Parts: sequence; C-alpha cells; structure tokens
Amino acid sequence: MTKKTAAKRDPATLPKHVAVVMDGNGRWAQRRFLPRSSGHKFGVDALKKMVRHCAEIGVAHLTVFAFSSENWARPAEEVQTLMDLFVKALEKESPELARQGVRLRVVGDLSAFSAEMRALIDQAEALTRQNDVLVLNVALNYGGRWDMVQAAQAVLAAQEQPTAETLAQHLALAHSPDPDLLIRTGGEHRVSNFLLWQLAYTELYFTDVLWPDFSPEAFDVALADYARRQRRFGGVPESKSPAAA
Ligand code: IPE
Ligand code: IPE
Ligand code: MG
Repeated sequence: MTKKTAAKRDPATLPKHVAVVMDGNGRWAQRRFLPRSSGHKFGVDALKKMVRHCAEIGVAHLTVFAFSSENWARPAEEVQTLMDLFVKALEKESPELARQGVRLRVVGDLSAFSAEMRALIDQAEALTRQNDVLVLNVALNYGGRWDMVQAAQAVLAAQEQPTAETLAQHLALAHSPDPDLLIRTGGEHRVSNFLLWQLAYTELYFTDVLWPDFSPEAFDVALADYARRQRRFGGVPESKSPAAA
C-alpha cells in the first residue's frame, strides 16, 4: 500500500460509518472452477485488508454482513463451512484486531449459535473492548426485520414509550451512528434484509466487483464517489437555500 492511500483523509468527506454487503464469494469461486467454500476463504482475506485500510485512513465504524438470517437456507455443507470459518477467524484474528486498535462487536441473533461459538465471540469482544481506532461490527445471523422486532420487544419490556429514539436505542447497532455509506459488491442492487432502519439516509454504492476481489483501491473508488455526493436529508442544498427573510 502506498503512503498516499494510507494517509488520513479529509474528515469532511470521509464517511464515519461504512456498511458492506460482502457479496459474490460463490461466483468468484465458480469462475475459477473452485468450490464455493474457497470463495468464502478468500473473502476473509479481503475483509482483513479492508479492516486494516479503514483503521489506517480513519473510518471510525465498519459494519459487514457476514451471515444473514436467511443464509440458513443454503446447503448444510456450505452453512457448516461458513461457521467453521467464523470460528477460525475469531480464534486467529482477534489478537491482530486488538493490535490494530480495532474493537470487535458481533451483532445478530446469537441464540442460534453453539455455546462454544458464543464463548469465542465473548472472548474476542472482551479482548478488544478497550480499543477505539475502529469499531468493527460483524453481522452474524443478522436480519433488519429481526433487529426491529427485537428492539420493539426491548422497548416494551422496559415499559418505555415506543418512539424513534427509544427504538433506536435498542437496535443491535445502537453503539454506532447510522451508516453514511453502504457498499454492496457482487452486482446485485438490493439490501437483502441488512440494516433496514439504519439505512434511511445512507448513500448507496453498488459495484460488480466480487467480494474477494474488493481491494482497498476499489474501496477508495467508492469513497471518492461518496465524497462527490450531496446529502440533503430532506432539506435543500445549503448554498441554494433562500436567505432567511
Ligand atoms: C456472500 O457471498 C457471502 C455470504 C452470503 C455468506 P455469496 O456466497 O452470497 O456469493 P454469491 O452471491 O453466491 O456469488
Ligand atoms: C447478502 O447476500 C448476505 C451476506 C452478504 C451475508 P446474499 O447472497 O445472501 O443475498 P441474496 O440472497 O442474493 O439477496
Ligand atoms: Mg450472494
């Protein structure tokens, strides 16, 4: 990586929170006549590079979709491969994340996972708890609809008034601001039940690049595209708004 790409960016145009639908591992492998599982393995490498890059350039929150609440519909063998990869990555990569100043948080319905897996997640989160360079949210067995329902149930359980604020406080990503930029690799133009609530005003960026090929340079292209966007949040552009009478 060159010095230039590693430099901190202009905070005015750098997203604070980037969310990524890491799609296209299977097709990446199929094009190479490899099993889908090897696409997922190379996908982990792409994620490692992306995390390092985000920490270096000053992105504060990165949320990645690793396994959706609908991905259980895949063949049992592929689901098992993915679970094995998560376990391996949690064991192997958490010390490196800790070294880079990354705080890991796993978000999703973890009740579906084995006690062993949940213990590993707890350990990895504990190991990185003090870190504040980058928050890495890994969405595992996550679905936007699940998130809204569990937040609504928590509001009820706490006997709070159901408002946008109280609901947001109970969402799985309550500790991170809403994403500024959503990137989906792999050519599909859909959200696939990712952060339904949090994406209300997120800028969307779709690329045909398959996830294992999504390099820090490709990420920089997405960031440059984001930097050119004008966000209005329902208002009017500042320079064009009529002077207050
Ligand atoms: C994304 O890649 C990884 C997961 C959903 C776990 P896919 O496995 O969906 O790859 P394609 O879309 O079939 O190419
Ligand atoms: C979205 O990708 C989920 C993840 C990347 C983890 P999918 O491959 O599951 O999405 P669909 O099925 O094409 O909508
Ligand atoms: Mg896919």
